[in-house]
Amino acid sequence: MRETATMADEREEPVGVDPEVHGPWAVIAGGSEGVGAELADQLGQRGLHLVLIARNPKPLLDTARQVTQRHGVQVRTLAGDLLDPAVAQRIRELCADLDVGTFIYNAGANTYGAEFTDGALASFQKVIDLNITRQLELTQHFAGRLKERGKGAIVLVGSLSGYVGHERIGVYAAAKAFTRIFAEGLWAELRPHGVHVLHPVLGLTRTPAMERLGLRMDLPGIEVSDSADVAGEILTHLHHGPVWITGANAAQAERNSGPDRARLVAEVGAGMRAMSRS
Ligand SMILES: NC(=O)c1ccc[n+]([C@@H]2O[C@H](COP(=O)([O-])OP(=O)(O)OC[C@H]3O[C@@H](n4cnc5c(N)ncnc54)[C@H](OP(=O)(O)O)[C@@H]3O)[C@@H](O)[C@H]2O)c1
Repeated sequence: MRETATMADEREEPVGVDPEVHGPWAVIAGGSEGVGAELADQLGQRGLHLVLIARNPKPLLDTARQVTQRHGVQVRTLAGDLLDPAVAQRIRELCADLDVGTFIYNAGANTYGAEFTDGALASFQKVIDLNITRQLELTQHFAGRLKERGKGAIVLVGSLSGYVGHERIGVYAAAKAFTRIFAEGLWAELRPHGVHVLHPVLGLTRTPAMERLGLRMDLPGIEVSDSADVAGEILTHLHHGPVWITGANAAQAERNSGPDRARLVAEVGAGMRAMSRS
């Protein structure tokens, strides 16, 4: 079981990026590092121009420069925090004159871990604002444009965490579950209008954000994916929405969807504690 929904007729469609459908411009919210940077590079390789958004200007400009140098495409950048409510308007203005064929919301790794009763509600809220509030706002804008255009793709990056409750990062896991179900509904709404919606589910992936967390990725039995491989898989399966579980993670997603919730939550909690170095 690789996807939560499969249409036999869609298996026949050509797969991958079609510049006529998914170009000429792609917007990546969270496009400076890790999977986002790899998506930028691989879309640039297919001739798409890019709008890249991230907070830290240096990696953002480095990625933009590399993509332009390698592939000769145009790249616009916006250095801003997606938590800032004003950023959505800045993105809309930056893209107003562009024919955008693909919108990717990649930013969203967890920013706060704490037991819920001890944690700061404002910090939990930031996880929700990054993963839900801003995502919905930007998705509504670009999905509306793509629907009118009658072609294109929306990609909302997800996580295996969204299949089961987690101690300390329960708000993040719940936000990813929200996005998965939201993406399924959006897929059904936009499909008749020629717009692909994909929620790629990532397992543990080597990204700068993940490296900074200092988690132990070398434990036996832990699968760690490479950002370039994950990006390639996402772009190959743009047509295979609403949900595509990347790498070798489909069996885990199926297990984590099982009925014995107490056992699953306990198992995931034990795994997370083993990975934590503290
Ligand atoms: N890495 C994993 O193991 C893993 C596993 C499952 C799912 N995922 C999902 O994969 C996606 C990418 O994760 P990641 O590990 O690469 O980390 P990430 O922290 O989401 O970073 C990805 C990109 O988003 C940007 N970004 C992050 N927060 C932002 C903000 N508030 N405003 C604007 N840009 C922001 C980052 O640049 P700046 O930091 O400069 O802003 C970077 O370019 C996320 O949705 C995450 O939930 C990752």
